[in-house]
Amino acid sequence: MDFAYHDGVLCAEQLPLEGIAERFGTPCYVYSRAAIEAAYSEFSRAVAARDALICYSVKANSNLAVLSLMARLGAGFDIVSGGELARVLAAGGDAGRTLFSGVGKSEREIEQSLLAGVLCLNLESEAELARVDAVARRLGRRAPVAFRVNPDVDPKTHPYISTGLRRNKFGVPYEEAERLYATASRLSAIEVRGIGCHVGSQLTDRAPFVAAVERLVALAARIEAAGVRLGHIDVGGGIGIRYRDENPQPIGDFVAGAVAALRGRRETLIFDPGRSIVGNAGVLLTRVEYVKPGPAKNFLVVDAAMNDLLRPALYDAWHEIRPVRESRAGTSTEIYDVVGPVCESGDFLARERRLAARDGDLLAVMSAGAYGMSMSSNYNSRPRAAEVLVEGDRAHLVRSRETIENLFALERTLP
Ligand code: LLP
Repeated sequence: MDFAYHDGVLCAEQLPLEGIAERFGTPCYVYSRAAIEAAYSEFSRAVAARDALICYSVKANSNLAVLSLMARLGAGFDIVSGGELARVLAAGGDAGRTLFSGVGKSEREIEQSLLAGVLCLNLESEAELARVDAVARRLGRRAPVAFRVNPDVDPKTHPYISTGLRRNKFGVPYEEAERLYATASRLSAIEVRGIGCHVGSQLTDRAPFVAAVERLVALAARIEAAGVRLGHIDVGGGIGIRYRDENPQPIGDFVAGAVAALRGRRETLIFDPGRSIVGNAGVLLTRVEYVKPGPAKNFLVVDAAMNDLLRPALYDAWHEIRPVRESRAGTSTEIYDVVGPVCESGDFLARERRLAARDGDLLAVMSAGAYGMSMSSNYNSRPRAAEVLVEGDRAHLVRSRETIENLFALERTLP
């Protein structure tokens, strides 16, 4: 276990979280290198038998240390902005193994990605095809592209993170894909590389994922029959993790389902997982500021807030809260809402949890490695948390806590 109790104290690998809190302060994100590597190798073992590429989805956790670890493990990357491209390059990642997805790529971002030599731009509209073609012409290059096709499959996940339904903004409509490939293949500055889809995130059942791959494969066969060669099939990410009592099918089942759906096709199989690699490899360490009993509810006011971890406020997401020091049998417990100092009623990390806690106690918000720090903000002028990566019995500070000066360093008062 990468986060487990030893002698009654919750540890990250071999390091007690108490020591980490003392050394780096709270709130603090703590990641386990071993946990990240274990999740990645579950993926790489599952695809080992065929030509495949795992493009880690940078948006899940974009810390340079995480990205450099992924690069060293041999991963490619899935990016959605010029900022993420710069991070991948700064971390030593390979542009030639990087996919650029997203519905709103700017001209500047397209230019940057072509100059860097990305593996493929995943196009999401006909207008984007025209823009990429124009930029590639201007640069005297050929742009490698794929279309992200909207397979119109219901992933049965939270509506905010479901992306593959017809009403979602993502991808080109399934019925239009053949025509778009025919158009793309006639443009001299465009080089068709592949086809892709992504139906949603936190999928626990592989059925909708596999259904989407089946639809994509049927389409790929028609596109190739029309004379357009596809080098890869990108089946997206979206594999769920356990936050509470979910029982997501193992990574190997999703991979096996995708492979079976390919029905012997030879294209390179690409996955772009984020959460399943880093989600359970990180916790948010926070300290109780006040125990605040109330007439209707009891609150634990902690020093982390929605600006540090937005998922509970935004999706009503459930994260387990563990005391860093295991409460002894017989200590009295209460039902608490765990809330932050931000001035919003939606600022909670957890609701109605039975905990024993006193002022100054440390708590760990579990499964916070994905979409935690990467979605954080400075709301209420709160400096962002520190990030620490643990390797065995060593802790590396991989992002310093922001200072108050950082917060308004780019601002000016009126002259
Ligand atoms: N590929 C594409 C094209 C995507 O849009 C996404 C995620 C991924 C891959 C990675 O999906 P994953 O394997 O991490 O599920 N902020 C939300 C999740 C948003 C996911 C957006 N797209 C959350 O905290 O649950």
